[in-house]
Amino acid sequence: MAPAGRVGHHRHVPPDAPVLPAAALVAHLRPRKGPRSLVDTLGRRVTYLRLSVTDRCNDRCTYCMPPEGVPLDPARTILRFEEIEVVVRAFVEAGVRVVRVTGGEPLVRKGIVDLLARLGRIETPSGDRLRLALSTNGERLAPLADAVVRAGVRRINVSVDSLDPARFRTITRRGSLDRVRAGLRAVCGRPGVTVKTNTVAIAGFNDDELARIARWAWSLGAVPRFIELMPMASGRLFVPGRLMDAATIRARLAAELEARLEPVPGPEGAGPARYERVVDRATGRTMGIVGIISPMTENFCAGCNRVRLDSRGRLHGCLGADDTVDLRAALAAGGPAGVRAAIDRALARKPAGHRFARDGTGGPRKSMISIGG
Ligand code: 5AD
Ligand code: SF4
Repeated sequence: MAPAGRVGHHRHVPPDAPVLPAAALVAHLRPRKGPRSLVDTLGRRVTYLRLSVTDRCNDRCTYCMPPEGVPLDPARTILRFEEIEVVVRAFVEAGVRVVRVTGGEPLVRKGIVDLLARLGRIETPSGDRLRLALSTNGERLAPLADAVVRAGVRRINVSVDSLDPARFRTITRRGSLDRVRAGLRAVCGRPGVTVKTNTVAIAGFNDDELARIARWAWSLGAVPRFIELMPMASGRLFVPGRLMDAATIRARLAAELEARLEPVPGPEGAGPARYERVVDRATGRTMGIVGIISPMTENFCAGCNRVRLDSRGRLHGCLGADDTVDLRAALAAGGPAGVRAAIDRALARKPAGHRFARDGTGGPRKSMISIGG
């Protein structure tokens, strides 16, 4: 506790200013419990939380979930909005500055707009707004776009694995490219809103479309990103020959766009994507920026800044591992302080890196659908 004498340092306050009761002032000065930042045993600072709000999805992407689906969590086990808010506040108090809402598909969660608005009101200890991001398959984005932006979401990532309607249907098993395109149109071009497209690059499926997808994303004002296929779900959904590595993605883009790629720093607070400026070889003109996410061949674990909370409130230190700490139980037993202690326990166990291997081994048992990327 701060000694009462510290109060004397505030004498410069004009005499007519409202005076806080001494007890409140002392409480205010009291050092907060725990350090104000989350740093793991390897010195990695965690500033980014991926928050899965449901394990359900209206699509069935072949690389994300098995055809028979995954066992769904009963509704009573899913965190309620109040619980989510307390947990997110504990993260923000501890140094998290960006919360990315994911699923399953987050926009199928009932009341999602209210939840986003709640999160959008959270302030960081220095009085800034928490930065709110959303990863969605875009199927329900068109009707919700206004409300999502009004709730404070400023970064939106939309999955688009193909611009061919039949292929799109094949990979998502039930999605509609038209709906997703309408969703993208509804959010692109809004001032202050950054939109990115996510494409999992799959050899023999969409490798002939990457340049087209990039051009299309640029034409919308979005940043296209290409992701290496990862062996989630114990490798059951992974076909080694389908992995298109980052070097091949770059080479293919450069060849088909008749461009050279120059690394550029990512946007502030950027995650693991590496960004490249795409420069027209003939004219020297910048065509746009692309992001490449290469967990398989250009591992970025040393710079990892994130943890993941699943929809049941279990904190995952790593996408590639099944180890979790139950924050819902910690909240029930110890309130916000209990949550903070549990977060620290999880950080102490955050693995140095994933063990994904190109042959499909080394991944976690969990499916992407249950954690949201
Ligand atoms: N490998 C790579 N990316 C994946 N995604 C889902 N499953 C996988 C996987 N096995 C992507 C989705 C979405 C993002 C959150 O993660 O397509 O764009
Ligand atoms: Fe749903 Fe996204 Fe998984 Fe596709 S990748 S099934 S859209 S959660």
